Amino acid sequence: MTDAPFEPFAYAHARFGEIAWMCQNTNHLVPREVVEPAMLEAIRERRYTMYPQGKGDPELLDLVRKDFGLAPADPVILTAGGTEALYMLERALFRPGDEMISSDPGYPIIHRFAELAGANVRALPIYAPPYRLDLEKVKEAIGPKTRILVLIDPLNPLGSGYSREEVRSFADLAHDHRIYLLNDVTYRDFPERHTLAREFAPEQTITVWSVSKNCGLAGMRLGGLMASPDLASTIGRFHTNDLGVDVVAQWAARSALRTKATWLPAVRRQTRENAVRIREVVATVEGASLPVFPSQANMFPIDLAGTGIRPEAIQEEMLLRDGVFVRSGGYVSPLFGHRFIRVSFSNPPSDIERFARSFPAAVARLRAPTARAA
Ligand SMILES: Cc1ncc(COP(=O)(O)O)c(C=O)c1O
Repeated sequence: MTDAPFEPFAYAHARFGEIAWMCQNTNHLVPREVVEPAMLEAIRERRYTMYPQGKGDPELLDLVRKDFGLAPADPVILTAGGTEALYMLERALFRPGDEMISSDPGYPIIHRFAELAGANVRALPIYAPPYRLDLEKVKEAIGPKTRILVLIDPLNPLGSGYSREEVRSFADLAHDHRIYLLNDVTYRDFPERHTLAREFAPEQTITVWSVSKNCGLAGMRLGGLMASPDLASTIGRFHTNDLGVDVVAQWAARSALRTKATWLPAVRRQTRENAVRIREVVATVEGASLPVFPSQANMFPIDLAGTGIRPEAIQEEMLLRDGVFVRSGGYVSPLFGHRFIRVSFSNPPSDIERFARSFPAAVARLRAPTARAA
């Protein structure tokens, strides 16, 4: 009999109160007063006994429109996390044999959904400066079968983002080639400035958003998409949640969006300070480096190639010894995942200090296994 493989998520969830959760780009900094009273209100009113409005709570839909600068009649589709929006749009827009241009590193479920719909993924390698898609390389990759270009901004797992001019160039490219632009803006609230591609290519762009990361609501599973009315109705045919998404999640999101201006600046500030602290720590570890700094998001990779240590080994070491959960790169990068771990840092400073103690010590132990055995 062989031992069952170690499952880091099962291990961490079983001890979740003790874990510094730096593995999923989640946000632990939004004050609980922002969302918990709203969730409790939905529960007290026993909203869970009936279906919510199928298209979503009207005030929530208006708040989302306001947040994205949309007009009152612009379509907004609510889904169970951005993930469901990604599934719907790829299912709706791909025909077998189509191509999608994306990146490696990138966000893997987007690729998996394309494959499920019979499309082929061209993941352009971007683990080298400038650590984001290059317009000329994307142009070269476009062919007669290209149907969707994926523009995640800021990018998971790299933390790099696009300037307004770059967003405009990609939007123009999509427009000129009559291809769709999947603008995944899950992390758009972390940088000081962000540009939505729909501004330049409203007919071509599908904007996928989420309250998982900006509002600290990953467990509530709420997100959505927006697109031109025609495109939204094509995609909307594939909505499996026609009875509406989780009502407690909607109440939480409504409260978070109503008050975003009051708490987001502090979340950003702490996230940025944490990144600086992590940089200090990484600088003390020979062979480790930060390819992307500053991050435009709440995560970045730490390159370990110069340490000779496997990312999976350090993930396990830090989790088991210190309860600090970082993520090995293989999850987000078939090509480069053997080189890096991804750490996210919208966390209280106490988590970052646990990381600061754990990471250098784990590297030292793994670098010298014989010394440990002695
Ligand atoms: C780029 C990107 N898109 C979409 C998602 C999906 O998020 P959710 O389904 O929680 O909204 C994630 C989650 O990590 C992500 O990183």
